[in-house]
Amino acid sequence: MGEPNTLVTLRLPSVVLARLEPFCKVDLYIGEMPITPAELLARVRDKEGLICAVTDKIDRDVINAGKHLRVIANTAVGFDNIDVSYARDRKITVTNTPDVLTEAVAELTWALILTISRRVSEGERLLRAGKWSGWRFDFLLGTELSGKQLGIVGAGRIGQAVAARAKAFGVRVVYGTVPGRQKSEREGTEAVRLSFDELLSTSDIVSLHLPFLPETHHLIGRSALLRMKRSAYLINTARGPIIDESALAWALRERLIAGAALDVYEDEPLINRHLLGLDNVVLVPHLGSATKETRTSMADLAVSNVLAVLTDQTPHTPVLPL
Ligand code: GLV
Repeated sequence: MGEPNTLVTLRLPSVVLARLEPFCKVDLYIGEMPITPAELLARVRDKEGLICAVTDKIDRDVINAGKHLRVIANTAVGFDNIDVSYARDRKITVTNTPDVLTEAVAELTWALILTISRRVSEGERLLRAGKWSGWRFDFLLGTELSGKQLGIVGAGRIGQAVAARAKAFGVRVVYGTVPGRQKSEREGTEAVRLSFDELLSTSDIVSLHLPFLPETHHLIGRSALLRMKRSAYLINTARGPIIDESALAWALRERLIAGAALDVYEDEPLINRHLLGLDNVVLVPHLGSATKETRTSMADLAVSNVLAVLTDQTPHTPVLPL
């Protein structure tokens, strides 16, 4: 078939793309907005490699259109945007970018924990609106982290990296078992392991670090929120649909929990309008892996995976069944 063709749907650094060019004809999508489904369908037709992003839905239609596809390299650790089992049936290798983004996501998780517990965004909004009248003894009081309990739901690479940073803040870590998926959870060696319900009812901060799967859809809904302490914070840097956003807006409005900080949403880039109106929620735009260092490493790993498959080598990070 001659030189393989690869479609790249995101603007990878040119030094990284340069590694592909000796082996592939690269079709680089360079729009400001994510590629549309129609354009993806049209451009994938003659391709053997596809480097894509979480914003690209790689469903049966795309996989069927890509008749020559041999590898789909997601530039993300999560791969719920790809119909992996259908790709497997079609003998297409799917890869992701684990490990290289673990530290960046763990750092953002702590940024969110600190921002919500010390009311940083709320204070900045108020100041920029010209509503700060000066230091007051009882103004914008937050919650101290020292001595508190962090409940980590999902004890994988990222959950463990978040836990590793807890000691610096004097925070005690517990891990929770995730209903329906205990087997694939790796044990944190030093931390206490609680049932999901115990974790919810005893933690001062609950942080989600698990993939979006049918069994984790709306794992945090009304009943989970009702189990949490009224003083607790909920943090999500995993995937939006793990939380039922309407239930969360209700719990925040009714002050059933103290606050939440979210990096991911049920229907990105749309934000639930009930959340937008609340002060006790921090909302950031899916920035988990968004550091220069990490994005370069993610691009590099995705390119290495494509090169490996197209040159009949073993890919570095094929996705494993969850
Ligand atoms: C980003 O959301 C990722 O899964 O890497």
